[in-house]
Amino acid sequence: MSILEKHKKIETHATLMMVLAFLVVTIGGLVQIVPLFYLENTIEKVEGMRPYTPLELAGRDIYIREGCYNCHSQMIRPMRDEITRYGHYSLAAESMYDHPFQWGSKRTGPDLARVGGRYSDEWHVDHFMDAKQVVPESLMPPYGFLAKRVIDGRYIEDVVRTHALVGVPYSEDMIANAKADFLAQANPDADSDGLQERYGEAAFGRAVNVRNFDGQAALTEMDALIAFMQVLGTMVDFSTFTPDPTR
Ligand code: HEC
Repeated sequence: MSILEKHKKIETHATLMMVLAFLVVTIGGLVQIVPLFYLENTIEKVEGMRPYTPLELAGRDIYIREGCYNCHSQMIRPMRDEITRYGHYSLAAESMYDHPFQWGSKRTGPDLARVGGRYSDEWHVDHFMDAKQVVPESLMPPYGFLAKRVIDGRYIEDVVRTHALVGVPYSEDMIANAKADFLAQANPDADSDGLQERYGEAAFGRAVNVRNFDGQAALTEMDALIAFMQVLGTMVDFSTFTPDPTR
Protein backbone atom coordinates (compact mmCIF):
# COMPACT_ATOMS: atom_id res chain seq x y z
CA MET A 1 0.00 0.00 0.00
CA SER A 2 1.43 3.34 -0.99
CA ILE A 3 1.57 6.17 1.51
CA LEU A 4 -1.21 7.94 -0.37
CA GLU A 5 -3.46 4.95 -0.04
CA LYS A 6 -2.69 4.65 3.68
CA HIS A 7 -3.56 8.29 4.10
CA LYS A 8 -6.77 7.87 2.21
CA LYS A 9 -7.69 4.95 4.44
CA ILE A 10 -7.19 7.05 7.58
CA GLU A 11 -8.89 10.14 6.23
CA THR A 12 -11.98 8.30 5.07
CA HIS A 13 -12.38 6.31 8.24
CA ALA A 14 -13.70 8.63 10.94
CA THR A 15 -13.22 6.32 13.92
CA LEU A 16 -9.68 5.38 12.97
CA MET A 17 -8.91 9.08 12.39
CA MET A 18 -10.28 9.97 15.83
CA VAL A 19 -8.33 7.22 17.58
CA LEU A 20 -5.08 8.22 15.90
CA ALA A 21 -5.65 11.95 16.51
CA PHE A 22 -6.35 11.19 20.16
CA LEU A 23 -3.07 9.24 20.40
CA VAL A 24 -1.09 12.07 18.85
CA VAL A 25 -2.62 14.70 21.13
CA THR A 26 -2.09 12.51 24.21
CA ILE A 27 1.56 11.89 23.46
CA GLY A 28 2.13 15.55 22.61
CA GLY A 29 0.44 16.62 25.83
CA LEU A 30 2.44 14.21 27.97
CA VAL A 31 5.72 15.35 26.42
CA GLN A 32 4.88 18.91 27.45
CA ILE A 33 3.39 18.28 30.86
CA VAL A 34 5.29 15.37 32.41
CA PRO A 35 8.71 17.10 32.61
CA LEU A 36 7.10 19.85 34.73
CA PHE A 37 6.38 17.32 37.46
CA TYR A 38 10.06 16.49 37.72
CA LEU A 39 11.38 20.04 37.82
CA GLU A 40 11.84 21.36 41.32
CA ASN A 41 11.16 24.87 40.22
CA THR A 42 10.40 26.29 36.82
CA ILE A 43 11.06 29.86 37.93
CA GLU A 44 14.65 31.05 38.04
CA LYS A 45 15.36 32.81 41.32
CA VAL A 46 16.38 36.38 40.64
CA GLU A 47 18.09 38.76 43.02
CA GLY A 48 16.11 41.78 44.12
CA MET A 49 12.62 40.28 43.83
CA ARG A 50 10.65 41.03 46.94
CA PRO A 51 7.00 40.84 47.91
CA TYR A 52 5.08 44.09 47.41
CA THR A 53 4.94 46.41 50.39
CA PRO A 54 1.46 46.70 51.92
CA LEU A 55 0.83 50.06 50.18
CA GLU A 56 1.99 48.73 46.80
CA LEU A 57 -0.23 45.71 47.33
CA ALA A 58 -3.19 47.99 48.02
CA GLY A 59 -2.34 49.89 44.82
CA ARG A 60 -2.30 46.63 42.92
CA ASP A 61 -5.77 45.83 44.23
CA ILE A 62 -6.98 49.22 42.96
CA TYR A 63 -5.36 48.47 39.59
CA ILE A 64 -7.35 45.22 39.44
CA ARG A 65 -10.57 46.79 40.74
CA GLU A 66 -10.44 49.55 38.12
CA GLY A 67 -9.78 47.06 35.35
CA CYS A 68 -6.57 48.73 34.17
CA TYR A 69 -5.56 45.31 32.84
CA ASN A 70 -8.26 45.63 30.19
CA CYS A 71 -6.10 48.20 28.42
CA HIS A 72 -2.61 47.53 29.79
CA SER A 73 -0.39 44.46 29.81
CA GLN A 74 2.48 43.85 32.22
CA MET A 75 4.54 41.50 30.14
CA ILE A 76 7.36 42.55 27.82
CA ARG A 77 7.91 39.85 25.24
CA PRO A 78 11.44 38.88 24.21
CA MET A 79 11.24 40.59 20.83
CA ARG A 80 13.41 43.43 19.64
CA ASP A 81 10.66 46.01 19.10
CA GLU A 82 9.30 45.42 22.60
CA ILE A 83 12.70 45.53 24.27
CA THR A 84 13.61 48.73 22.43
CA ARG A 85 10.39 50.36 23.56
CA TYR A 86 9.87 48.99 27.06
CA GLY A 87 13.22 47.66 28.30
CA HIS A 88 14.45 44.20 29.28
CA TYR A 89 11.93 41.45 28.55
CA SER A 90 9.88 40.32 31.54
CA LEU A 91 11.27 37.47 33.62
CA ALA A 92 8.98 34.82 35.08
CA ALA A 93 10.41 35.71 38.49
CA GLU A 94 9.16 39.27 38.15
CA SER A 95 5.57 38.16 38.46
CA MET A 96 6.07 35.27 40.87
CA TYR A 97 4.51 37.23 43.74
CA ASP A 98 1.59 38.48 41.63
CA HIS A 99 -1.66 36.75 42.57
CA PRO A 100 -3.27 36.88 40.11
CA PHE A 101 -0.56 37.88 37.63
CA GLN A 102 -1.24 40.98 35.52
CA TRP A 103 0.29 39.92 32.21
CA GLY A 104 -2.88 40.91 30.39
CA SER A 105 -3.73 40.16 26.81
CA LYS A 106 -4.77 43.54 25.45
CA ARG A 107 -2.76 46.66 24.82
CA THR A 108 -5.00 49.63 24.19
CA GLY A 109 -2.38 51.56 26.15
CA PRO A 110 1.33 50.76 26.54
CA ASP A 111 2.77 47.87 28.52
CA LEU A 112 3.34 48.88 32.16
CA ALA A 113 5.75 46.15 33.28
CA ARG A 114 8.61 48.70 33.58
CA VAL A 115 6.76 51.95 34.05
CA GLY A 116 8.30 52.38 37.53
CA GLY A 117 10.54 55.46 37.61
CA ARG A 118 9.74 56.42 34.02
CA TYR A 119 7.63 59.40 35.10
CA SER A 120 7.49 61.60 38.19
CA ASP A 121 4.72 61.20 40.77
CA GLU A 122 3.33 64.58 39.66
CA TRP A 123 3.12 63.30 36.10
CA HIS A 124 1.08 60.31 37.29
CA VAL A 125 -1.26 62.54 39.33
CA ASP A 126 -1.89 64.82 36.32
CA HIS A 127 -2.26 61.83 34.02
CA PHE A 128 -4.74 60.02 36.29
CA MET A 129 -6.72 63.25 36.79
CA ASP A 130 -7.13 63.75 33.06
CA ALA A 131 -4.91 61.84 30.67
CA LYS A 132 -5.84 64.06 27.73
CA GLN A 133 -4.26 67.08 29.42
CA VAL A 134 -0.95 65.21 29.40
CA VAL A 135 -1.24 63.15 26.22
CA PRO A 136 -3.80 64.91 23.97
CA GLU A 137 -4.58 61.85 21.85
CA SER A 138 -5.08 59.61 24.91
CA LEU A 139 -8.30 57.72 25.40
CA MET A 140 -7.54 56.63 28.93
CA PRO A 141 -10.47 57.40 31.26
CA PRO A 142 -10.03 59.89 34.13
CA TYR A 143 -9.33 58.50 37.62
CA GLY A 144 -9.31 61.75 39.63
CA PHE A 145 -11.77 60.31 42.15
CA LEU A 146 -8.96 58.12 43.51
CA ALA A 147 -7.38 61.24 45.02
CA LYS A 148 -10.54 61.80 47.10
CA ARG A 149 -10.76 58.30 48.50
CA VAL A 150 -9.00 58.25 51.84
CA ILE A 151 -7.70 54.85 52.95
CA ASP A 152 -6.50 53.77 56.36
CA GLY A 153 -5.18 50.25 55.89
CA ARG A 154 -8.00 48.77 57.96
CA TYR A 155 -7.90 45.43 56.18
CA ILE A 156 -4.33 45.42 54.94
CA GLU A 157 -3.07 42.89 57.49
CA ASP A 158 -5.65 40.39 56.23
CA VAL A 159 -4.71 41.13 52.62
CA VAL A 160 -1.03 40.51 53.32
CA ARG A 161 -1.85 37.38 55.29
CA THR A 162 -3.93 36.07 52.40
CA HIS A 163 -1.05 36.55 50.00
CA ALA A 164 1.20 34.70 52.46
CA LEU A 165 -1.34 31.89 52.42
CA VAL A 166 -0.97 31.45 48.67
CA GLY A 167 2.82 31.34 48.88
CA VAL A 168 4.16 34.89 48.89
CA PRO A 169 6.99 34.86 51.45
CA TYR A 170 5.61 37.47 53.85
CA SER A 171 7.15 36.87 57.27
CA GLU A 172 5.20 37.03 60.53
CA ASP A 173 7.01 40.32 61.14
CA MET A 174 5.78 41.71 57.81
CA ILE A 175 2.22 40.60 58.55
CA ALA A 176 2.20 41.99 62.08
CA ASN A 177 3.51 45.36 60.86
CA ALA A 178 1.41 45.53 57.69
CA LYS A 179 -0.69 48.48 58.81
CA ALA A 180 2.24 50.45 60.23
CA ASP A 181 4.24 49.89 57.01
CA PHE A 182 1.19 50.79 54.94
CA LEU A 183 0.85 54.14 56.72
CA ALA A 184 4.58 54.87 56.82
CA GLN A 185 5.29 54.51 53.11
CA ALA A 186 3.29 57.54 51.99
CA ASN A 187 4.28 59.74 54.91
CA PRO A 188 7.81 61.16 54.69
CA ASP A 189 7.55 62.35 58.30
CA ALA A 190 6.75 58.92 59.68
CA ASP A 191 9.35 56.50 60.99
CA SER A 192 9.91 54.18 58.06
CA ASP A 193 12.97 52.35 59.43
CA GLY A 194 10.93 49.22 60.04
CA LEU A 195 9.50 49.31 56.51
CA GLN A 196 13.00 49.68 55.04
CA GLU A 197 14.33 46.91 57.25
CA ARG A 198 11.64 44.51 56.06
CA TYR A 199 11.45 45.41 52.35
CA GLY A 200 14.41 47.70 51.69
CA GLU A 201 18.08 47.77 50.84
CA ALA A 202 19.41 45.45 53.54
CA ALA A 203 16.84 42.76 52.81
CA PHE A 204 16.47 43.04 49.02
CA GLY A 205 19.16 45.40 47.75
CA ARG A 206 17.00 48.39 46.97
CA ALA A 207 15.38 51.04 49.17
CA VAL A 208 11.59 51.25 49.24
CA ASN A 209 10.09 54.46 47.80
CA VAL A 210 8.85 56.45 50.80
CA ARG A 211 7.17 59.74 49.98
CA ASN A 212 3.90 61.53 49.67
CA PHE A 213 3.03 60.12 46.25
CA ASP A 214 -0.02 62.24 45.42
CA GLY A 215 1.14 65.42 47.16
CA GLN A 216 -1.95 65.67 49.39
CA ALA A 217 -1.97 65.51 53.16
CA ALA A 218 -4.42 62.58 53.31
CA LEU A 219 -3.42 59.03 52.41
CA THR A 220 -5.56 58.15 49.39
CA GLU A 221 -6.06 55.46 46.80
CA MET A 222 -4.08 57.70 44.46
CA ASP A 223 -1.03 57.32 46.77
CA ALA A 224 -1.39 53.54 46.71
CA LEU A 225 -1.82 53.33 42.94
CA ILE A 226 1.19 55.56 42.25
CA ALA A 227 3.30 53.60 44.77
CA PHE A 228 2.40 50.50 42.75
CA MET A 229 3.17 52.20 39.39
CA GLN A 230 6.56 53.39 40.63
CA VAL A 231 7.76 49.96 41.76
CA LEU A 232 6.76 48.11 38.57
CA GLY A 233 9.81 46.61 36.90
CA THR A 234 12.29 48.21 39.27
CA MET A 235 13.03 45.33 41.64
CA VAL A 236 15.55 43.51 39.46
CA ASP A 237 18.70 45.47 38.63
CA PHE A 238 19.20 44.84 34.92
CA SER A 239 22.58 46.57 34.84
CA THR A 240 23.97 43.53 36.67
CA PHE A 241 21.44 40.81 35.83
CA THR A 242 22.72 37.87 33.79
CA PRO A 243 20.42 34.97 32.93
CA ASP A 244 21.44 31.56 34.27
CA PRO A 245 22.40 29.64 31.11
CA THR A 246 21.67 26.28 32.75
CA ARG A 247 17.98 27.16 33.09
C1 HEC B 1 -9.66 52.45 27.95
C2 HEC B 1 -8.30 51.99 28.07
C3 HEC B 1 -7.49 52.36 29.26
C4 HEC B 1 -7.74 52.10 30.59
C5 HEC B 1 -8.97 51.43 31.20
C6 HEC B 1 -6.59 52.54 31.33
N1 HEC B 1 -5.67 53.07 30.48
FE1 HEC B 1 -3.82 53.74 30.99
N2 HEC B 1 -3.47 54.28 29.08
C7 HEC B 1 -4.33 54.07 28.01
C8 HEC B 1 -3.76 54.64 26.81
C9 HEC B 1 -4.39 54.64 25.43
C10 HEC B 1 -2.52 55.21 27.16
C11 HEC B 1 -1.51 55.93 26.25
C12 HEC B 1 -1.80 57.43 26.21
C13 HEC B 1 -1.53 58.07 27.53
O1 HEC B 1 -0.38 58.10 28.00
O2 HEC B 1 -2.49 58.53 28.16
C14 HEC B 1 -2.37 54.94 28.60
C15 HEC B 1 -1.26 55.30 29.34
C16 HEC B 1 -1.03 54.94 30.66
C17 HEC B 1 0.18 55.19 31.38
C18 HEC B 1 1.46 55.80 30.80
C19 HEC B 1 2.29 54.66 30.22
C20 HEC B 1 3.50 55.09 29.48
O3 HEC B 1 4.47 54.31 29.47
O4 HEC B 1 3.52 56.18 28.92
C21 HEC B 1 0.01 54.71 32.65
C22 HEC B 1 1.00 54.74 33.78
C23 HEC B 1 -1.34 54.20 32.71
N3 HEC B 1 -1.94 54.34 31.49
C24 HEC B 1 -1.89 53.61 33.85
C25 HEC B 1 -3.22 53.18 33.91
C26 HEC B 1 -3.85 52.73 35.15
C27 HEC B 1 -3.17 52.57 36.47
C28 HEC B 1 -5.13 52.44 34.83
C29 HEC B 1 -6.24 51.99 35.76
C30 HEC B 1 -6.51 52.86 36.89
C31 HEC B 1 -5.30 52.67 33.40
N4 HEC B 1 -4.13 53.14 32.89
C32 HEC B 1 -6.47 52.44 32.71
C33 HEC B 1 -5.54 53.42 28.07
C34 HEC B 1 -6.17 52.98 29.22
